[in-house]
Amino acid sequence: MALVTSTEMFAKAYAGGYAIGAFNVNNMEIVQGITEAAQELHSPVILQASAGARKYANPFYLQKLVEAAVLTCPDIDIVMHLDHGPDFETCKSCVDSGFTSVMIDCSSKPFEENIAITKQVVEYAHDHGVVVEAELGALAGIEDDVNVSAEDSAYTRPEEVQEFVERTGVDSLAIAIGTSHGAFKFKPGTDPKLRFDILDEIVKNIPGFPIVLHGASSVPQEYVKIINAHGGALVDAIGVPEDQLRQAARSAVCKINVDSDLRLGFTAGIRETFDAKPELFDPRGYLKPARENVKAIVRHKILDVLGSADKM
Ligand code: G3H
Ligand code: 13P
Ligand code: ZN
Repeated sequence: MALVTSTEMFAKAYAGGYAIGAFNVNNMEIVQGITEAAQELHSPVILQASAGARKYANPFYLQKLVEAAVLTCPDIDIVMHLDHGPDFETCKSCVDSGFTSVMIDCSSKPFEENIAITKQVVEYAHDHGVVVEAELGALAGIEDDVNVSAEDSAYTRPEEVQEFVERTGVDSLAIAIGTSHGAFKFKPGTDPKLRFDILDEIVKNIPGFPIVLHGASSVPQEYVKIINAHGGALVDAIGVPEDQLRQAARSAVCKINVDSDLRLGFTAGIRETFDAKPELFDPRGYLKPARENVKAIVRHKILDVLGSADKM
C-alpha cells in the first residue's frame, strides 16, 4: 500500500478497539524485522525515529530504509513518525523530508509554553499534510538528552487535556498514566499498575480523541535472562504487564510505543549467537538472529497485545 498519515488508522483503531504499534527504528535490520511481521499479519504499522536515531543513522538513510520497507510491503500502510521531537526545527526538518507524522514533545515545559510550541508545529505540519502528536504529563526515564527522574515525572492532569487539544489543534495526545521509558519501569516487589482511572477521566474530557501510550514495553523476561546469562546487568528489569497493555489497546489508546523490547530482543540475539559461535566474525551471522527476534516480538505484539492483525 503506501506511506500514510495516522488519521484513518487511528479512527479505525478507536472504533475497532485495537491499537497500532509504533516501533522505534535505528537500522536496516530493525526496519526489516518490524515490517516483515506487519506485512505477514496484514497489520498497519508506525515506524518511528527519534532525534537520536536520526543522528545515529543519518536522516537520509532512515528515510530510504522506510521507503524500501514501503516498497517491500505491498499489503500494508506504514506511517513514518518523528518520536519525541524536541523543538520546532527538528519537526520542520522531518516534515520537509517526507515524514507523515511528527511528535513535538514539550511535556517538560510549562503548560503555556507547551501549547505555544505545539501550536507552531501543528500550523506548519498541517500546511504540509502532516499530522502531529504532542504530550501532556511527564514520563520518567531517558530519551536522548532528556532524563526525567521518577520524582519529577507527573501524571497527565485530565482537567488540562480539552483546553490543550482545542488550543493547539493537535491530532493525537500522549499521556502519562504510570508507564516510563526504558527497561526498569517498576520497583521490584511492587505491583505494577497503570492509572486507568486517570485515562478514563481524560477520555471523558476528549471523547473520540486518539490517545498515545509511550513507555509501553513489556520487557520480556526470556530476553532479559539471555542477556544476563551472557554478561549483561539487567537484574530487576520490569515492564508493563501485557494484560494492562491489552486493556489500553481496547480503550481510546490508538498508538502504543515500543522500543526497549526490540533493543532487548536484538541484543539477546547477538549475545546468544556469540556464545554459541565465538569464532563468528561475519556480521550477517549475528544480525540475522537479532532481526529474527525483532520480527518475533512484533508478531507477538500485533497478535497477542495490540489486536491489529488483519486490519488492512
Ligand atoms: O522514547 C524514547 C525511545 O526509546 C527512543 O530512544 O532517544 O535513545 O533513540 P532514543
Ligand atoms: P519503551 O522504552 O517502553 O520501549 O518506550 C518507547 C517509547 O515510548 C518511544 O517513544
Ligand atoms: Zn516515548
